Amino acid sequence: MYLQRRNRILRNNPSIRSLVAETILRPSDFIAPLFIDEGENVAFEIPSMPGYYRRSIDGTIQEVKELWSLGIKSILLFVKAADDTKDNTGKESWNPDGLMQRAIKAIKNAVPEMIVMTDVALDPYSVYGHDGIVENGEKVNDPTVEALVKMSLSHAAAGADIVAPSDMMDGRIGAIREALEQNNFTKTGIMAYSAKYASCFYGPFRDALDSAPGFGDKKTYQMDYANRIEAIKETLMDIEEGADIVMVKPAMTYLDIIREVKNAVDVPVSAYHVSGEYAMIKAAAKMGWLNEDKAVLECLTSIKRAGADLIATYFAKDAVKLLG
Ligand code: PBG
Repeated sequence: MYLQRRNRILRNNPSIRSLVAETILRPSDFIAPLFIDEGENVAFEIPSMPGYYRRSIDGTIQEVKELWSLGIKSILLFVKAADDTKDNTGKESWNPDGLMQRAIKAIKNAVPEMIVMTDVALDPYSVYGHDGIVENGEKVNDPTVEALVKMSLSHAAAGADIVAPSDMMDGRIGAIREALEQNNFTKTGIMAYSAKYASCFYGPFRDALDSAPGFGDKKTYQMDYANRIEAIKETLMDIEEGADIVMVKPAMTYLDIIREVKNAVDVPVSAYHVSGEYAMIKAAAKMGWLNEDKAVLECLTSIKRAGADLIATYFAKDAVKLLG
């Protein structure tokens, strides 16, 4: 048989495959999300996220040191607000002595070079578990944006490198950018959750922070998963308003969106491999139905190949170890 081209030549052995690999994961691709709790020596394993913990600040610092030693350069902080601090204004979220603000300071103090990103959204602070202030059963946009601005400023004041609004209110990126400028936080970046879909894959995260919506769902602010063009509109508007990095979330059911966003923008694109995506792999591996290590690397590589420059993932530490 005569063939002019034999594509298998470039797949013949590991050496040649590594020579022609188009997508290579590296530790600095990853953003490690961290769940933080009050107290000391707390390490609570999240039931729907086996192997993932919510820790008090002391344990979080040990974890951040380990992540840094592995070559991971950024973390994304989420806090579990105490029940008695929750209300319908979110005011605990801009308390200068709040858990988030104390955590930012302690981490920047311990590992100054780690890029500290912070979640900006009201849901952990909301009695209703929503990302917006609720009036007459509705999640109201503009008062929520005012709260998000105060929250962002307090994170910046505590030393956050990048604030990451995950709420999907209209106009919040512009409002936050303007406030950062006015208050001379000219080094604080914004990573916008630009195309964040109303997804069932956030379930385990809401267990981790006890932040499930008390009524209704998030469909009046998070995007409809039927939509693609809208993702580009949202993302371009966020960039126009001042976003430094944009995000698509979740990741694996939205690889098409990641690619389209990547092709449409000139800023770094991140993707959030969310809690439900973590839980699925863990569950299948526990049943013996999937090889966890292989699944992790295949999933994360596919997200990078789709166009993500950065990947927020609960597998960050595992992946770096697997990469060797
Ligand atoms: C809250 C927020 C959520 C996630 C990140 N920030 C949950 C939600 O929108 O309900 C989900 C992350 C994950 O599932 O891993 N604004």
